[in-house]
Amino acid sequence: MGTVVSFINQKGGVAKTTTAINVSAQWAKEGKKILLIDLDPQSSATRAIFGDQDFENTIYDVLTGELEARDAVVSSESFGIDVIPSEIMLSGIEIILASKFGRESILKRALAEIKDQYDIIVIDCSPSLGLLTVNALIASKDIVIPICPEYFSLKGIDLILETLKHIHTGLGHKIDVRGIIISKYRSRKIVEKVISDLRTNYTIPVFNNYIPESIVVEEAHHRHLPMLHYSPKNPAGMALANLAAEMWS
Ligand SMILES: Nc1ncnc2c1ncn2[C@@H]1O[C@H](COP(=O)(O)OP(=O)(O)OP(=O)(O)O)[C@@H](O)[C@H]1O
Ligand SMILES: [Mg+2]
Repeated sequence: MGTVVSFINQKGGVAKTTTAINVSAQWAKEGKKILLIDLDPQSSATRAIFGDQDFENTIYDVLTGELEARDAVVSSESFGIDVIPSEIMLSGIEIILASKFGRESILKRALAEIKDQYDIIVIDCSPSLGLLTVNALIASKDIVIPICPEYFSLKGIDLILETLKHIHTGLGHKIDVRGIIISKYRSRKIVEKVISDLRTNYTIPVFNNYIPESIVVEEAHHRHLPMLHYSPKNPAGMALANLAAEMWS
């Protein structure tokens, strides 16, 4: 049976998309059947995987109910995964969904018919805790939280945990935080302090494989390749591969 994991942080630019697409490709390489859902109107995952290609069918059409999820699925050969792409229209969807019955569980219902075709469904969320992200949370069994370790990261994590609590009490859905991913890692005194505060003050696990900062990660996006093809021996490439194994071996 398929499981669903969301990459969540309302803070922008913390490598949600980068880690989501790269661990997806790594899991696929190891034989898992993966569906990646781009749930961000910015469409970064869609662009990183497919470049400027436009898609007629996207997650927008699925959420508005005009399309079955299976009809929005496209395949990426280089990543070895299935993808439901996003489009900029998604930026206006919250107002459309707001008046719908069961508005928090629209994505979950839409995925029910295809869930069993995949080992893992990965959801790449936008930097927000709005209705789209709440839909991701309701559809998910687990979440992971990528962060760039800095002083304000801990406040951001508190806000996510608060949201999970509201979803548990208000909507009866319990979500497991599988762990925090340290991204764009550079060994600095303040960075080590934030990570050690995280490890001591929170009960959430911190994954041991930190993703080092490397320009090669950005280059791989431009080439529309996963790090495992573009630069597997690069320290960031190796860290992403090891992180994938640490998350789900
Ligand atoms: N390890 C890394 N080293 C260098 N650059 C990185 C690394 N990880 C991510 N980046 C770059 O940082 C930027 C933000 O990364 P990414 O888009 O994955 O973050 P995000 O959390 O998904 O952002 P958003 O909140 O906008 O969705 C991108 O330009 C990406 O290429
Ligand atoms: Mg992103």
